[in-house]
Amino acid sequence: MKRVMKGLLATVAFMVLALGGAFALAQSKAMGRLDKTWQAHTIELPVPFPLSEAELAALRAEKSAALGVDAGADDVLAGVDLTAVATQRALERGKHLLESRYGCFECHGTDLGGGTMMDAPPVGRFFGPNLTSGKGGVVSKYTVADWDRIVRHGIKPDGKGTVMPSVDFLSMSDQELSDIITSVRARPPVDREQPRPEFGPVGLLLMAKGDINVSAELVDHQRAHEQLPPEVASKEFGHHLAQVCTGCHGPALKGGPIAGGDPSWPPSADLSTKALAGWTYEDFKRALTEGKRKDGTELKAPMSFITKYGVKYTDAELKALWSYLQTVSG
Ligand code: HEC
Ligand code: HEC
Repeated sequence: MKRVMKGLLATVAFMVLALGGAFALAQSKAMGRLDKTWQAHTIELPVPFPLSEAELAALRAEKSAALGVDAGADDVLAGVDLTAVATQRALERGKHLLESRYGCFECHGTDLGGGTMMDAPPVGRFFGPNLTSGKGGVVSKYTVADWDRIVRHGIKPDGKGTVMPSVDFLSMSDQELSDIITSVRARPPVDREQPRPEFGPVGLLLMAKGDINVSAELVDHQRAHEQLPPEVASKEFGHHLAQVCTGCHGPALKGGPIAGGDPSWPPSADLSTKALAGWTYEDFKRALTEGKRKDGTELKAPMSFITKYGVKYTDAELKALWSYLQTVSG
Protein backbone atom coordinates (compact mmCIF):
# COMPACT_ATOMS: atom_id res chain seq x y z
CA MET A 1 0.00 0.00 0.00
CA LYS A 2 2.75 2.37 1.07
CA ARG A 3 4.63 1.59 -2.11
CA VAL A 4 1.55 2.39 -4.15
CA MET A 5 1.11 5.69 -2.28
CA LYS A 6 4.74 6.61 -2.85
CA GLY A 7 4.42 5.78 -6.53
CA LEU A 8 1.27 7.87 -6.76
CA LEU A 9 2.89 10.80 -4.98
CA ALA A 10 5.89 10.60 -7.26
CA THR A 11 3.60 10.56 -10.30
CA VAL A 12 1.61 13.55 -8.99
CA ALA A 13 4.83 15.42 -8.20
CA PHE A 14 6.13 14.64 -11.66
CA MET A 15 2.89 15.85 -13.26
CA VAL A 16 2.89 19.07 -11.26
CA LEU A 17 6.48 19.73 -12.31
CA ALA A 18 5.75 18.87 -15.93
CA LEU A 19 2.63 21.03 -15.97
CA GLY A 20 4.53 23.83 -14.27
CA GLY A 21 7.24 23.53 -16.90
CA ALA A 22 4.72 23.47 -19.75
CA PHE A 23 2.99 26.47 -18.24
CA ALA A 24 6.22 28.42 -17.88
CA LEU A 25 6.99 27.64 -21.51
CA ALA A 26 3.52 28.77 -22.60
CA GLN A 27 3.89 31.92 -20.52
CA SER A 28 7.19 32.85 -22.11
CA LYS A 29 5.80 32.12 -25.57
CA ALA A 30 2.70 34.23 -24.86
CA MET A 31 4.67 37.15 -23.45
CA GLY A 32 7.16 36.85 -26.30
CA ARG A 33 4.32 37.65 -28.70
CA LEU A 34 3.45 40.81 -26.81
CA ASP A 35 7.01 41.88 -26.00
CA LYS A 36 8.15 41.74 -29.60
CA THR A 37 8.68 45.19 -31.06
CA TRP A 38 7.54 46.19 -34.52
CA GLN A 39 8.67 48.77 -37.02
CA ALA A 40 5.97 50.54 -38.99
CA HIS A 41 6.07 53.44 -41.40
CA THR A 42 5.80 57.01 -40.06
CA ILE A 43 3.01 58.84 -41.82
CA GLU A 44 1.75 62.38 -41.83
CA LEU A 45 -1.83 63.38 -42.36
CA PRO A 46 -3.73 66.62 -41.94
CA VAL A 47 -6.01 67.04 -38.90
CA PRO A 48 -8.64 68.15 -39.79
CA PHE A 49 -8.73 66.90 -43.37
CA PRO A 50 -8.99 69.84 -45.81
CA LEU A 51 -12.05 70.28 -48.02
CA SER A 52 -11.83 68.31 -51.26
CA GLU A 53 -11.97 69.96 -54.69
CA ALA A 54 -15.57 68.74 -55.01
CA GLU A 55 -16.53 70.22 -51.64
CA LEU A 56 -14.86 73.51 -52.54
CA ALA A 57 -16.72 73.59 -55.87
CA ALA A 58 -20.03 72.91 -54.11
CA LEU A 59 -19.31 75.61 -51.53
CA ARG A 60 -18.40 78.06 -54.31
CA ALA A 61 -21.64 77.28 -56.17
CA GLU A 62 -23.66 77.68 -52.97
CA LYS A 63 -22.04 81.03 -52.12
CA SER A 64 -22.37 82.43 -55.61
CA ALA A 65 -26.05 81.46 -55.73
CA ALA A 66 -26.58 83.14 -52.35
CA LEU A 67 -24.73 86.28 -53.51
CA GLY A 68 -26.41 86.20 -56.91
CA VAL A 69 -23.05 86.37 -58.73
CA ASP A 70 -21.52 84.29 -61.50
CA ALA A 71 -20.34 80.87 -60.24
CA GLY A 72 -16.96 81.53 -61.86
CA ALA A 73 -16.23 84.62 -59.77
CA ASP A 74 -13.08 83.62 -57.88
CA ASP A 75 -13.45 85.65 -54.77
CA VAL A 76 -16.78 84.23 -53.57
CA LEU A 77 -14.92 82.22 -50.95
CA ALA A 78 -12.78 85.15 -49.81
CA GLY A 79 -13.61 85.81 -46.18
CA VAL A 80 -14.96 82.27 -45.64
CA ASP A 81 -13.01 80.48 -42.91
CA LEU A 82 -12.31 77.27 -44.84
CA THR A 83 -10.48 75.66 -41.92
CA ALA A 84 -13.51 76.21 -39.69
CA VAL A 85 -15.77 74.63 -42.34
CA ALA A 86 -13.36 71.69 -42.72
CA THR A 87 -13.22 71.23 -38.92
CA GLN A 88 -17.00 71.29 -38.62
CA ARG A 89 -17.36 68.63 -41.32
CA ALA A 90 -14.57 66.49 -39.85
CA LEU A 91 -16.31 66.63 -36.44
CA GLU A 92 -19.62 65.52 -37.97
CA ARG A 93 -18.00 62.66 -39.91
CA GLY A 94 -15.89 61.67 -36.88
CA LYS A 95 -18.95 61.56 -34.61
CA HIS A 96 -20.71 59.28 -37.06
CA LEU A 97 -17.67 57.00 -37.38
CA LEU A 98 -17.31 56.70 -33.60
CA GLU A 99 -21.02 56.09 -33.04
CA SER A 100 -21.48 53.57 -35.82
CA ARG A 101 -18.71 51.99 -37.81
CA TYR A 102 -15.62 51.96 -35.66
CA GLY A 103 -16.92 50.90 -32.23
CA CYS A 104 -14.13 52.64 -30.22
CA PHE A 105 -16.73 53.38 -27.49
CA GLU A 106 -17.19 49.67 -26.85
CA CYS A 107 -13.82 49.37 -25.11
CA HIS A 108 -12.86 53.00 -24.43
CA GLY A 109 -16.25 54.10 -22.96
CA THR A 110 -18.84 56.42 -24.48
CA ASP A 111 -17.04 59.33 -22.80
CA LEU A 112 -13.75 57.89 -24.18
CA GLY A 113 -12.41 58.10 -20.61
CA GLY A 114 -11.72 54.33 -20.64
CA GLY A 115 -13.85 51.19 -20.69
CA THR A 116 -13.77 47.41 -20.58
CA MET A 117 -12.89 45.09 -23.44
CA MET A 118 -13.04 41.94 -21.32
CA ASP A 119 -13.18 41.27 -17.60
CA ALA A 120 -12.91 37.47 -17.39
CA PRO A 121 -10.00 36.90 -14.95
CA PRO A 122 -9.00 33.34 -16.02
CA VAL A 123 -8.58 34.65 -19.56
CA GLY A 124 -7.71 38.24 -18.85
CA ARG A 125 -8.76 41.69 -17.78
CA PHE A 126 -8.40 44.01 -20.73
CA PHE A 127 -9.39 47.61 -20.18
CA GLY A 128 -9.44 50.23 -22.91
CA PRO A 129 -7.38 53.21 -21.73
CA ASN A 130 -8.55 56.79 -21.36
CA LEU A 131 -8.30 58.60 -24.73
CA THR A 132 -9.16 62.08 -23.41
CA SER A 133 -6.84 64.83 -22.22
CA GLY A 134 -7.94 64.26 -18.60
CA LYS A 135 -5.88 62.63 -15.82
CA GLY A 136 -5.03 59.06 -16.84
CA GLY A 137 -5.33 59.90 -20.55
CA VAL A 138 -2.68 58.13 -22.65
CA VAL A 139 -2.79 60.10 -25.89
CA SER A 140 -1.59 63.56 -24.80
CA LYS A 141 1.80 63.06 -26.50
CA TYR A 142 0.43 61.16 -29.50
CA THR A 143 1.58 62.26 -32.94
CA VAL A 144 -0.50 61.50 -36.02
CA ALA A 145 1.95 58.66 -36.80
CA ASP A 146 1.30 57.18 -33.30
CA TRP A 147 -2.44 57.23 -34.01
CA ASP A 148 -1.86 55.48 -37.32
CA ARG A 149 0.29 52.83 -35.65
CA ILE A 150 -2.07 51.96 -32.78
CA VAL A 151 -5.29 52.10 -34.80
CA ARG A 152 -4.29 50.66 -38.20
CA HIS A 153 -1.28 48.53 -37.24
CA GLY A 154 -1.88 47.47 -33.62
CA ILE A 155 1.46 48.90 -32.43
CA LYS A 156 1.79 51.01 -29.27
CA PRO A 157 4.14 54.02 -29.13
CA ASP A 158 6.77 51.79 -27.41
CA GLY A 159 6.75 49.56 -30.53
CA LYS A 160 4.97 46.62 -28.87
CA GLY A 161 1.84 44.83 -30.08
CA THR A 162 -1.52 44.91 -28.34
CA VAL A 163 -4.70 42.93 -27.72
CA MET A 164 -6.74 45.79 -29.19
CA PRO A 165 -8.29 44.37 -32.41
CA SER A 166 -6.66 46.87 -34.77
CA VAL A 167 -6.97 44.38 -37.59
CA ASP A 168 -10.65 45.43 -37.76
CA PHE A 169 -9.49 48.92 -38.72
CA LEU A 170 -7.08 47.82 -41.42
CA SER A 171 -8.97 49.47 -44.25
CA MET A 172 -9.66 52.75 -42.43
CA SER A 173 -8.68 55.58 -44.80
CA ASP A 174 -6.53 58.57 -43.87
CA GLN A 175 -9.57 60.82 -43.91
CA GLU A 176 -11.50 58.55 -41.53
CA LEU A 177 -8.55 58.32 -39.13
CA SER A 178 -8.13 62.09 -39.27
CA ASP A 179 -11.88 62.55 -38.57
CA ILE A 180 -11.64 60.22 -35.58
CA ILE A 181 -8.61 62.12 -34.20
CA THR A 182 -10.45 65.45 -34.66
CA SER A 183 -13.50 64.09 -32.89
CA VAL A 184 -11.55 62.42 -30.05
CA ARG A 185 -9.51 65.58 -29.41
CA ALA A 186 -12.69 67.65 -29.19
CA ARG A 187 -14.19 65.50 -26.38
CA PRO A 188 -14.25 66.88 -22.84
CA PRO A 189 -11.42 65.66 -20.59
CA VAL A 190 -12.26 62.76 -18.26
CA ASP A 191 -10.11 61.92 -15.20
CA ARG A 192 -9.87 58.12 -15.04
CA GLU A 193 -6.87 55.83 -14.60
CA GLN A 194 -7.30 52.45 -16.24
CA PRO A 195 -5.24 49.39 -15.29
CA ARG A 196 -3.05 47.97 -18.08
CA PRO A 197 -4.22 44.71 -19.72
CA GLU A 198 -3.47 41.61 -17.63
CA PHE A 199 -3.58 37.98 -18.72
CA GLY A 200 -4.93 35.09 -16.64
CA PRO A 201 -3.58 31.52 -16.96
CA VAL A 202 -6.17 30.50 -19.58
CA GLY A 203 -5.45 33.67 -21.55
CA LEU A 204 -1.71 32.92 -21.51
CA LEU A 205 -2.31 29.41 -22.84
CA LEU A 206 -4.66 30.72 -25.55
CA MET A 207 -2.11 33.37 -26.40
CA ALA A 208 0.69 30.79 -26.61
CA LYS A 209 -1.48 28.58 -28.86
CA GLY A 210 -2.24 31.50 -31.15
CA ASP A 211 -5.96 31.61 -30.25
CA ILE A 212 -5.78 35.28 -29.29
CA ASN A 213 -4.86 37.68 -32.07
CA VAL A 214 -2.04 40.16 -31.83
CA SER A 215 -3.01 42.47 -34.68
CA ALA A 216 0.59 43.57 -35.31
CA GLU A 217 1.34 40.02 -36.49
CA LEU A 218 -1.40 40.20 -39.11
CA VAL A 219 -0.70 43.54 -40.73
CA ASP A 220 1.75 44.66 -43.44
CA HIS A 221 3.40 47.58 -41.68
CA GLN A 222 4.72 49.29 -44.80
CA ARG A 223 1.56 49.21 -46.89
CA ALA A 224 0.15 52.52 -48.08
CA HIS A 225 -3.28 53.54 -46.76
CA GLU A 226 -6.13 54.79 -48.91
CA GLN A 227 -6.52 58.54 -48.64
CA LEU A 228 -10.31 58.59 -48.82
CA PRO A 229 -12.97 55.96 -48.17
CA PRO A 230 -14.62 54.59 -51.34
CA GLU A 231 -17.62 56.59 -52.64
CA VAL A 232 -20.82 55.60 -50.82
CA ALA A 233 -22.42 54.57 -54.11
CA SER A 234 -19.49 52.37 -55.18
CA LYS A 235 -19.26 48.59 -55.05
CA GLU A 236 -16.12 48.84 -52.90
CA PHE A 237 -17.90 50.77 -50.13
CA GLY A 238 -19.68 47.67 -48.75
CA HIS A 239 -16.40 45.75 -48.67
CA HIS A 240 -14.80 48.70 -46.86
CA LEU A 241 -17.57 48.65 -44.22
CA ALA A 242 -17.36 44.87 -43.75
CA GLN A 243 -13.75 45.08 -42.49
CA VAL A 244 -15.06 45.76 -38.96
CA CYS A 245 -17.10 42.54 -39.08
CA THR A 246 -14.06 40.35 -39.87
CA GLY A 247 -12.61 40.47 -36.32
CA CYS A 248 -15.51 38.26 -35.20
CA HIS A 249 -16.88 36.75 -38.42
CA GLY A 250 -13.42 35.89 -39.80
CA PRO A 251 -11.48 37.31 -42.76
CA ALA A 252 -13.76 35.50 -45.25
CA LEU A 253 -16.93 36.21 -43.15
CA LYS A 254 -17.57 32.48 -42.82
CA GLY A 255 -18.03 32.65 -39.02
CA GLY A 256 -16.50 30.49 -36.27
CA PRO A 257 -15.02 30.85 -32.77
CA ILE A 258 -14.06 34.44 -31.93
CA ALA A 259 -10.29 34.71 -31.35
CA GLY A 260 -9.67 36.28 -27.96
CA GLY A 261 -13.39 36.68 -27.31
CA ASP A 262 -15.13 36.39 -23.96
CA PRO A 263 -15.47 32.65 -23.15
CA SER A 264 -19.27 33.03 -22.82
CA TRP A 265 -19.71 34.12 -26.47
CA PRO A 266 -21.08 31.69 -29.07
CA PRO A 267 -19.19 31.26 -32.34
CA SER A 268 -19.99 33.99 -34.87
CA ALA A 269 -22.40 33.20 -37.70
CA ASP A 270 -21.54 32.40 -41.31
CA LEU A 271 -22.51 35.46 -43.37
CA SER A 272 -22.07 33.92 -46.82
CA THR A 273 -24.96 33.81 -49.30
CA LYS A 274 -25.41 30.10 -48.67
CA ALA A 275 -25.81 30.62 -44.90
CA LEU A 276 -28.07 33.67 -45.32
CA ALA A 277 -30.11 32.13 -48.15
CA GLY A 278 -33.68 33.41 -47.92
CA TRP A 279 -32.66 36.55 -45.97
CA THR A 280 -33.93 39.85 -47.36
CA TYR A 281 -32.40 43.29 -46.84
CA GLU A 282 -35.11 43.92 -44.21
CA ASP A 283 -34.07 40.78 -42.29
CA PHE A 284 -30.43 41.91 -42.40
CA LYS A 285 -31.32 45.42 -41.22
CA ARG A 286 -33.31 43.92 -38.33
CA ALA A 287 -30.32 41.77 -37.29
CA LEU A 288 -28.05 44.82 -37.20
CA THR A 289 -30.47 47.30 -35.66
CA GLU A 290 -32.68 45.10 -33.43
CA GLY A 291 -30.47 42.07 -32.80
CA LYS A 292 -32.95 39.55 -34.20
CA ARG A 293 -32.46 36.54 -36.46
CA LYS A 294 -34.60 35.98 -39.53
CA ASP A 295 -36.96 33.83 -37.44
CA GLY A 296 -37.39 36.69 -34.95
CA THR A 297 -35.38 35.09 -32.11
CA GLU A 298 -32.83 37.21 -30.24
CA LEU A 299 -29.18 37.15 -31.27
CA LYS A 300 -26.77 36.55 -28.40
CA ALA A 301 -23.90 38.74 -27.19
CA PRO A 302 -21.70 40.10 -28.63
CA MET A 303 -23.89 40.46 -31.77
CA SER A 304 -26.64 41.87 -29.55
CA PHE A 305 -24.28 44.73 -28.53
CA ILE A 306 -23.66 45.60 -32.17
CA THR A 307 -27.21 46.96 -32.50
CA LYS A 308 -26.33 50.18 -30.65
CA TYR A 309 -23.87 50.88 -33.49
CA GLY A 310 -26.16 49.32 -36.12
CA VAL A 311 -28.95 51.82 -35.43
CA LYS A 312 -26.52 54.65 -36.21
CA TYR A 313 -25.60 53.33 -39.68
CA THR A 314 -27.27 55.24 -42.49
CA ASP A 315 -29.58 53.32 -44.82
CA ALA A 316 -27.02 53.79 -47.58
CA GLU A 317 -24.37 52.13 -45.37
CA LEU A 318 -26.62 49.21 -44.43
CA LYS A 319 -27.57 48.71 -48.07
CA ALA A 320 -23.92 48.80 -49.15
CA LEU A 321 -23.02 46.19 -46.51
CA TRP A 322 -25.91 43.99 -47.60
CA SER A 323 -24.97 44.27 -51.30
CA TYR A 324 -21.42 43.28 -50.41
CA LEU A 325 -22.57 40.23 -48.41
CA GLN A 326 -24.44 39.07 -51.51
CA THR A 327 -21.07 38.66 -53.20
CA VAL A 328 -19.64 36.47 -50.40
CA SER A 329 -20.25 32.99 -51.72
CA GLY A 330 -20.76 30.08 -49.34
C1 HEC B 1 -12.44 45.52 -28.64
C2 HEC B 1 -11.91 46.58 -27.81
C3 HEC B 1 -11.29 47.81 -28.42
C4 HEC B 1 -11.77 48.58 -29.47
C5 HEC B 1 -13.01 48.35 -30.30
C6 HEC B 1 -10.85 49.67 -29.60
N1 HEC B 1 -9.85 49.58 -28.67
FE1 HEC B 1 -8.30 50.88 -28.44
N2 HEC B 1 -7.55 49.70 -26.96
C7 HEC B 1 -8.14 48.56 -26.45
C8 HEC B 1 -7.30 48.01 -25.39
C9 HEC B 1 -7.60 46.77 -24.56
C10 HEC B 1 -6.17 48.86 -25.29
C11 HEC B 1 -4.97 48.70 -24.36
C12 HEC B 1 -3.98 47.91 -25.12
C13 HEC B 1 -2.66 47.63 -24.50
O1 HEC B 1 -2.20 48.35 -23.60
O2 HEC B 1 -2.05 46.66 -24.98
C14 HEC B 1 -6.36 49.91 -26.29
C15 HEC B 1 -5.47 50.95 -26.50
C16 HEC B 1 -5.72 52.06 -27.31
C17 HEC B 1 -4.88 53.23 -27.37
C18 HEC B 1 -3.68 53.52 -26.50
C19 HEC B 1 -2.48 52.67 -26.71
C20 HEC B 1 -1.38 53.10 -25.75
O3 HEC B 1 -1.19 52.43 -24.74
O4 HEC B 1 -0.74 54.13 -26.02
C21 HEC B 1 -5.46 54.07 -28.30
C22 HEC B 1 -4.96 55.43 -28.72
C23 HEC B 1 -6.64 53.41 -28.81
N3 HEC B 1 -6.77 52.19 -28.19
C24 HEC B 1 -7.50 53.95 -29.76
C25 HEC B 1 -8.63 53.30 -30.26
C26 HEC B 1 -9.49 53.84 -31.31
C27 HEC B 1 -9.32 55.19 -31.97
C28 HEC B 1 -10.46 52.91 -31.54
C29 HEC B 1 -11.56 52.93 -32.58
C30 HEC B 1 -11.12 53.12 -33.93
C31 HEC B 1 -10.21 51.80 -30.63
N4 HEC B 1 -9.09 52.07 -29.87
C32 HEC B 1 -10.99 50.67 -30.56
C33 HEC B 1 -9.32 48.01 -26.86
C34 HEC B 1 -10.08 48.46 -27.93
C1 HEC C 1 -17.83 41.37 -31.52
C2 HEC C 1 -18.08 40.31 -32.47
C3 HEC C 1 -18.98 40.58 -33.67
C4 HEC C 1 -18.90 41.64 -34.56
C5 HEC C 1 -17.91 42.81 -34.54
C6 HEC C 1 -19.92 41.41 -35.53
N1 HEC C 1 -20.60 40.26 -35.25
FE1 HEC C 1 -22.24 39.53 -36.29
N2 HEC C 1 -22.39 37.97 -34.99
C7 HEC C 1 -21.51 37.72 -33.96
C8 HEC C 1 -21.93 36.49 -33.28
C9 HEC C 1 -21.24 35.85 -32.10
C10 HEC C 1 -23.10 36.04 -33.95
C11 HEC C 1 -23.93 34.81 -33.60
C12 HEC C 1 -24.90 35.20 -32.49
C13 HEC C 1 -25.83 34.10 -32.11
O1 HEC C 1 -25.61 32.95 -32.50
O2 HEC C 1 -26.81 34.41 -31.40
C14 HEC C 1 -23.36 37.00 -35.01
C15 HEC C 1 -24.44 36.93 -35.87
C16 HEC C 1 -24.66 37.80 -36.94
C17 HEC C 1 -25.79 37.72 -37.84
C18 HEC C 1 -26.95 36.71 -37.77
C19 HEC C 1 -26.73 35.58 -38.70
C20 HEC C 1 -27.68 34.44 -38.48
O3 HEC C 1 -27.58 33.48 -39.27
O4 HEC C 1 -28.49 34.47 -37.55
C21 HEC C 1 -25.62 38.70 -38.79
C22 HEC C 1 -26.50 39.02 -39.98
C23 HEC C 1 -24.38 39.41 -38.45
N3 HEC C 1 -23.83 38.84 -37.32
C24 HEC C 1 -23.85 40.46 -39.18
C25 HEC C 1 -22.75 41.21 -38.79
C26 HEC C 1 -22.20 42.32 -39.55
C27 HEC C 1 -22.69 42.78 -40.90
C28 HEC C 1 -21.17 42.83 -38.81
C29 HEC C 1 -20.29 44.02 -39.14
C30 HEC C 1 -20.96 45.28 -39.32
C31 HEC C 1 -21.07 42.03 -37.61
N4 HEC C 1 -22.02 41.05 -37.62
C32 HEC C 1 -20.14 42.26 -36.61
C33 HEC C 1 -20.42 38.49 -33.57
C34 HEC C 1 -20.06 39.70 -34.13
